[in-house]
Amino acid sequence: MQNLAVGIDKMDFYAPGYFVDMANLAQARGVDPKKFNEGIGQDQMAVPPITQDIVTMGANAADFLTEEDKAAIDMVLVGTESGIDQSKSSAVYIHHLLGIQPFARSVELKEACYSATAALHLGLDYVRTHPERKVLVVASDIARYGLETSGEATQGAGAVAILLAANPRLALVDPDSAFMTEDVMDFWRPNYTDKAMVDGKLSLRQYTHVLEQVWDKYQAETGLTLDDFEAVCFHLPYTKMGLKGLRRLMKGASDEKKDSLRTYFEASEQYSRRIGNVYTGSLYLSLISLLDQAEGLKAGDRIGMYSYGSGSVGEFFSLILADDFQAGQDKAAHEAFLDQREEISVDRYEALFNDVLPTDGSELTLTAEHPSETYYVQGIADHQRHYAKR
Ligand code: COA
Repeated sequence: MQNLAVGIDKMDFYAPGYFVDMANLAQARGVDPKKFNEGIGQDQMAVPPITQDIVTMGANAADFLTEEDKAAIDMVLVGTESGIDQSKSSAVYIHHLLGIQPFARSVELKEACYSATAALHLGLDYVRTHPERKVLVVASDIARYGLETSGEATQGAGAVAILLAANPRLALVDPDSAFMTEDVMDFWRPNYTDKAMVDGKLSLRQYTHVLEQVWDKYQAETGLTLDDFEAVCFHLPYTKMGLKGLRRLMKGASDEKKDSLRTYFEASEQYSRRIGNVYTGSLYLSLISLLDQAEGLKAGDRIGMYSYGSGSVGEFFSLILADDFQAGQDKAAHEAFLDQREEISVDRYEALFNDVLPTDGSELTLTAEHPSETYYVQGIADHQRHYAKR
């Protein structure tokens, strides 16, 4: 038990204040809405305004931190694949915006959608040796494939913030873990473009291939089997991908176990269905959704976690729900947050998509419009992004 006493103490998410309904997007693209709702498994897609980037979304997600937390945080680790600067880390901006004590490490990590999991384990190793201190992990991304591309329906934006601590309120993270790296070009984004390049079919094959590899290794090394898991959370770039992963994992399981895992999966995909792809935060958004929406979870239950980053790196690890895990989640607040977002037309989504910050050194000043934007991009001057809190 000594090894298990560190984990997730608090956790929350942020998504932009605007979304497009996937049925409307399907209609505009001349596609059967069932393809998006059922075939891909998405109902709504978050659309970020120009005033939200990975820094502001990360700060907005971490707005739950208390002054006591901020005084105890020794590391701010940001996982992202839509960074705003090749040199300066987004973690430094987030550290400043949140007012975290100055004697902290602030670093950005990158490996497609996987890096927040690396940040989680790095942070937990630190907390194991410094049990009085805390680590903030932020996963923040804007998923952009381009208008009228095959990846368009799997866009989205959002952030998840995770506070790591000893004797955590939400979940203990088991140090047993299986991970692997395999060099594959299934998804990438060269420096000269802000839109991802993807081989969607290869990506799906690699996602399930890596899952099989790390799951086999995990079982061999831990002696655990599917029956030891109450539920499994997946990286969900679109929810159907996770469902395909779950089907692989459930091969050979009893009908009763399959039904139970499917029910939990449906709870875990609810928020992703309404936000879309948040890249690095996606696995952790599915965990928040599971904890809020599932019925029957109890302290001591083991939750499997499958993290995948194209390119590719994958990992299977597990969490044990802590005694007070229910007190740490706020389903009503999360649902109210999603409900207060504004639905926009496909025309407005296209306009917001094309409304990007200047890349030619010109300056501009911005005002946040949506009430959820506590932190926002105030503008650009002298080639620097300026942020504000309201
Ligand atoms: N009703 C119900 N389902 C339908 C349908 C309809 N009318 N029309 C199509 N579908 C289903 C298809 O059968 C398919 O489901 P299946 O895979 O279970 O068979 C699904 O919808 C998607 O159809 P497909 O023809 O494969 O769509 P596509 O060529 O437009 O590509 C993606 C879909 C997801 C591959 C594409 O959007 C993509 O590449 N996205 C990016 C993926 C990514 O980000 N990968 C990296 C992250 S790990």
